[in-house]
Amino acid sequence: MPQIPEKIHELTVGQLSARSGAAVSALHFYEAKGLIGSRRTAGNQRRYGRDALRRVAFIRAAQRVGIPLATIREALSELPEERTPTREDWSRLSAAWRAELDDRIKQLGRLRDHLSDCIGCGCLSLETCVLSNPDDVFGARMAGSRLLPLRRPDQEETP
Ligand code: FES
Repeated sequence: MPQIPEKIHELTVGQLSARSGAAVSALHFYEAKGLIGSRRTAGNQRRYGRDALRRVAFIRAAQRVGIPLATIREALSELPEERTPTREDWSRLSAAWRAELDDRIKQLGRLRDHLSDCIGCGCLSLETCVLSNPDDVFGARMAGSRLLPLRRPDQEETP
């Protein structure tokens, strides 16, 4: 990983990409979503403060554990003056996200266990297939195939 000399206070998008490991397109995306910010030079080129490195590291670490970008953005925006997250911020936020992650792992475990029932089945039934309707979201409202669009007899069936 290339080192950026301390005397350099602003980074080009290429330097930020090389140092953080995030693709340039990802950095542009983070910026478009308000997760990182830059200033423009007279030639309309982006320049990022060195703290962008830590913000990008924070974003990527959170993404790696499956935290949605919207949640990450919310967490960053709640920091005083939207400052760069400190070690303590990461520690506090990652502890809060752990419960969310535990829930997701439990849910995935349940889906994995039911997958063996589906292998070789293919019904994708809304009544009986847990993968097709993991939370039985429609079962509480109605039974059967009422979710299928109503079709007039003269309409062709689409594949
Ligand atoms: S595909 Fe038939 S039970 Fe899941």
